[in-house]
Amino acid sequence: MKLKMNLLLVSSLFVVGCGAGNSSKSDKELINDNINVIVAHHNMQTDIIEQSGEILNPRTICEKTGDILYIPMDDWCSGFFPGNLWLTYELTGDEKWATLAQKYTEDLDSVKYLKWHHDVGFMIGCSYLNGYRLADKKEYKDVIVEAAKSLSTRFRPGAGIIQSWNVDQDWQSQRGWKCPVIIDNMMNLELLFEATKMTGDSTFYDISVKHADTTMKHHFRDDYSCYHVVDYDNETGEVRQRQTAQGYADESSWARGQAWAIYGYTMCYRYTNDERYLAQAQNIYNFIFNNKNLPADQVPYWDFDAPNIPNEPRDASSAACTASALYEMEVYLPNQGYKEKADEIIRNLSSAEYRAEPGTNANFVLMHSVGSIPHGHEIDVPINYADYYFIEALMRKRDLEAGNSFKI
Ligand code: GLY
Repeated sequence: MKLKMNLLLVSSLFVVGCGAGNSSKSDKELINDNINVIVAHHNMQTDIIEQSGEILNPRTICEKTGDILYIPMDDWCSGFFPGNLWLTYELTGDEKWATLAQKYTEDLDSVKYLKWHHDVGFMIGCSYLNGYRLADKKEYKDVIVEAAKSLSTRFRPGAGIIQSWNVDQDWQSQRGWKCPVIIDNMMNLELLFEATKMTGDSTFYDISVKHADTTMKHHFRDDYSCYHVVDYDNETGEVRQRQTAQGYADESSWARGQAWAIYGYTMCYRYTNDERYLAQAQNIYNFIFNNKNLPADQVPYWDFDAPNIPNEPRDASSAACTASALYEMEVYLPNQGYKEKADEIIRNLSSAEYRAEPGTNANFVLMHSVGSIPHGHEIDVPINYADYYFIEALMRKRDLEAGNSFKI
């Protein structure tokens, strides 16, 4: 039975000025203040959707009109909105959020058959897997396992890698790729590890480990920064190209890529206890936090090598994802400063600089993320995955400080 945290629940008309004064708040006050703001945003977001009579899935703001941009279920970001509702349920204990999370999760049912890109791990992981873990929805197991089977169809044994993107669209074939793999793919391994836990079938686990090992070998530079895209020969495993798609340059360090990497290897350690993965996460940490271009508030520019730093957009989503990973690192490597760093990031993201007042920001919690500058879209906007990792980080912070083990 979950504890009701009625004190934390507020009406959708939330008081203004809630971003002020975070530096002096206790950890508990900071978490409670954030929960209030998250609930206020989500109340407004879900009221709009429920009143529309449709099932809608908000991703970001439409940059031309300022309207909320809704996405179809095969968009790689479709799991984050239901995921945000599950996390809000976990943080508040309010059944309202479980009911809504279930509704928007179950709309994604057919995603379990999606085989044309790798992101089924994000999509089903944030939605169904969180329902399974946070609300004990054991009936979601079949969807999770089916999705893991779909993701496994993209494994290329000759290269020991899961292919991220297909190569049949114009923008892909122009690059001359055969088997492109992006660092983001590390995040999808969680679905496979969980499928092995649920079924006892080690195939999914073995694919994950192989992918993580191949990525560790070929995706990283000597300083443990990572490339965005590595293109393989899918039969021989030869590396054909190392490039970027969303970063500034092939040899630059795209901020979110570094965040996916630190989170991905920490998560791999969770399921394998393989010390190499934890060491990899520590090395990535050292790259990020010793980087001369990381701003004092620890929220990176969209690329560590963007040409006009300090006049470049920040990416709050990278900071949120990294903070969440650092709370998990703290569990395996206690008292080495990982929690303090995560706390610093979360405190800064909770300030008025990054966290939006309820009633603004198209009802997303965080401002200032970047989707893809090279593609010219989602520049300095709210994005649902920034909120997702911010809320997940808050949940992990709460659990660490209460001495509880993580549910995710
Ligand atoms: N996985 C795509 C991105 O991080 O933008």
